[in-house]
Amino acid sequence: MLPAAIFAIFGAIVLVLVVTTARRSSTSGRLSRETKSRDKSGPASTSATTELEAADSAVARERAALAQNEAVSGVPAMVGETGIARWEPVDEETLGVSRRQFLNRANISMLGIGMLPIFGVSLIAFLYPSGAGGFGSKVTVGKLSDILASITAKKQPFYAASARTYIQIFDNAKTTAAEVTSAYEGREVEMGLPDGYVALWQRCVHLGCRVPWCQSSQWFECPCHGSKYSKIGEKRDGPAPRGLDRFATEVVDGNLVVNTGVIIQGPPIGTTTIDQKQEGPACV
Ligand code: FES
Repeated sequence: MLPAAIFAIFGAIVLVLVVTTARRSSTSGRLSRETKSRDKSGPASTSATTELEAADSAVARERAALAQNEAVSGVPAMVGETGIARWEPVDEETLGVSRRQFLNRANISMLGIGMLPIFGVSLIAFLYPSGAGGFGSKVTVGKLSDILASITAKKQPFYAASARTYIQIFDNAKTTAAEVTSAYEGREVEMGLPDGYVALWQRCVHLGCRVPWCQSSQWFECPCHGSKYSKIGEKRDGPAPRGLDRFATEVVDGNLVVNTGVIIQGPPIGTTTIDQKQEGPACV
C-alpha cells in the first residue's frame, strides 16, 4: 500500500508539471489583455497608423526610384540601401515549427506517454481495496490452537502486529452466557467469546495511544494517561470512557482470522464478565 501511495503522489506531481508546461506553451506568443487594450486606445493608435502609412509610401517611392534607375543603368539595386527596412509578416506555414515549440511538445509528449500510465496504475492500486490481508481487512493471524496454547504457557496475550491486535483467552467461568450477552449486546459470537478468545484492538479508547501489556499486573496499562483494562479489555481505571474496542473474528480451517474492518465498541464502564483483579505491581 505504501509504495502505491508513493507512486500515486509522484504521478500527481508529474501530472501538475505536464499541465503547467502545456499552459505555458499555449499562452506563449499571445498578447496580454493590457497590450491589446493599449493598442485599441484612440490617439496613440491613430498616430502610429499614420506614421506606418507614411513609411509605406516612402518605401514605395524608394522602390519605384530604384526600379527606374535599374532600368536605365542596367545595374541591379539593393532594396533598403537607404537604411529604411520594412518588416514583412512571416507566413507560419513557411516558417514551420519553431525550436522552442518543438522542444515543448516533445517534453509534453514524453512525460505524457511515459508517466501517465504509471500514474493511472498507481492510482488504481491506491484506491482499490487491498485483498492482501493488511490492516483494515481480514488478517489471518495463525492457527487458533497454537495461539491459545502460547497464551496459556506464557501467561500473556498473543500479539498479532499485522492486525494491531492482542488475542486473549476469554474465560467466563464466573459469568453466565446471558450475562455475557447482556454486557456485549449480543455480539459475543461475532467476537469469538463463546469459543474462548477475543481479539482486542491495541488502540486506547481514551486518546488513541497504543496500550501495552503489563506482565506483572496482568492488565493492559496505557502509559499516556493511565487508563487500565483487564486482560480481556474491560475498563478498570483511568480516563478511558469504556473497555478496549475489539474486532470481529472467524475461524477458517483452524486458523484465526481477525476482521480489522469490523470494529466492535468496547463494553461500558462497570462490565466485569471475568472479574479479574490486578495480579501484581502495576507498570504505569
Ligand atoms: S490515551 Fe490511553 S489513557 Fe489516554
